[in-house]
Amino acid sequence: MDYFEIEGGRRLSGTVTASGSKNAALPILFATLLCPAKVRLRKVPRLHDIKTTLSLLEGVGARVSREGETVEIELAKLSSTEAPYDLVRTMRASVLMLGPLLAREKSARVSLPGGCAIGSRPVDIHLTALEQMGAELKLEAGYIVGNCPRGLRGAEINFRFPSVGATQQIMMAASLAAGRTVIRNAAREPEIENLGGFLRAMGAKISGDGTAEIVIDGVPALSGAEFEVMFDRIEAATLLLAGPITGGSTRVQGMETDCLEAFLGVLRKSGVAVNSGEGWVEAAAGAASHGADFETQPHPGYPTDLQAQMMAFLAQANGISRVSETIFENRFMHVPELVRMGADIRVEGGQAVVHGKPGCYQGTTVMATDLRASASLVLAGLVAKGTTRVRRIYHLDRGYESLESKLSSLGGAVVRKPE
Ligand code: EPU
Repeated sequence: MDYFEIEGGRRLSGTVTASGSKNAALPILFATLLCPAKVRLRKVPRLHDIKTTLSLLEGVGARVSREGETVEIELAKLSSTEAPYDLVRTMRASVLMLGPLLAREKSARVSLPGGCAIGSRPVDIHLTALEQMGAELKLEAGYIVGNCPRGLRGAEINFRFPSVGATQQIMMAASLAAGRTVIRNAAREPEIENLGGFLRAMGAKISGDGTAEIVIDGVPALSGAEFEVMFDRIEAATLLLAGPITGGSTRVQGMETDCLEAFLGVLRKSGVAVNSGEGWVEAAAGAASHGADFETQPHPGYPTDLQAQMMAFLAQANGISRVSETIFENRFMHVPELVRMGADIRVEGGQAVVHGKPGCYQGTTVMATDLRASASLVLAGLVAKGTTRVRRIYHLDRGYESLESKLSSLGGAVVRKPE
């Protein structure tokens, strides 16, 4: 198991390029299950979760080839309709195989993903919606077993919560269903629009993605396509924080501001100078730093995937910040580790009160508990006095492509070491 060793106290400055988005690439890869012809995807990040997804696709008969950031997938005929536990347990997004398999093959057997560190994460919204479309679902020995002998049919679906995964699941399933599907209270994350773009490139009839109401008119078949995955807005924002937290500045190219407005708003409020141009954003430490309150919300609200990183930043700014987590019930696991490094953060229910203090962090050995928590510990390590060792960075490798190289190219001293 590798760990990161970080020598803190270096000022990070310079330009880095954002990678393709993990959370956009995963549903797009699962959407290739819908199509018998060859699909070519560009800007697919080299991450552990992507490898897992490609193994799941190979497991049902797909021919997969990869060169750098380009992946080609061809699934002329399925040899199985199963997503086995051994792969699913490492990545919850695997449940996104259910809709496409039911739509194309009328049957599916997908392991039920367990809970994970950040919460219990049920999939009831996915299942209820698929049942509304005519799927018969039952739970058998930890697997969701689905059948729809007469095929899926369009339905009017009202989500009780705008779930990102359920919106993607139903967009994919409805693309090949008979008739019209309307999703109300749909998630509006930019990754939903990216999936919509890919499905349209394959010939699907979808409109309204990016709004709360998505309309999909099913078509009998989809065709091959070439498509580019959007930039990773969570990685980009994490890299933007790396400059100002060390008193420096970072420019991230290959990104746009429009899908990160809520994050950039909090960053500005905390005293960071944010500038942007065509295809780039720059964040530079301001003359004074301030506390800033925020609450995580579905898009266009503040993203839960950037809660931990911003908290690491605010803990070393001047002033008090109140951070509320409303999406996941257990997403403050970075707090005890940040506190061990010297931060003053108190959690009361779903709210963390951060008493910011410049220079609070001191290097020590800390343990990563999930993907975004790991990133917050790395950010704290960059500004801490002395050496920080972040252990269990396999969490980080699920979602950040070569983070140590990117931070080193900005002047950070971050080295990957074997345990
Ligand atoms: N929920 C339910 N029932 C459902 C589905 C969701 O109760 O059927 C609840 C969840 O338990 C959670 C909330 O709704 O409390 C949000 O879940 P959502 O379905 O929106 O999230 P997701 O699709 O499971 C994606 C990202 C997450 C990101 C969330 C929220 C991917 C692969 N994952 O998860 O990313 O936090 O949306 O934006 O796109 C990460 O990258 O670190 C990560 C966790």
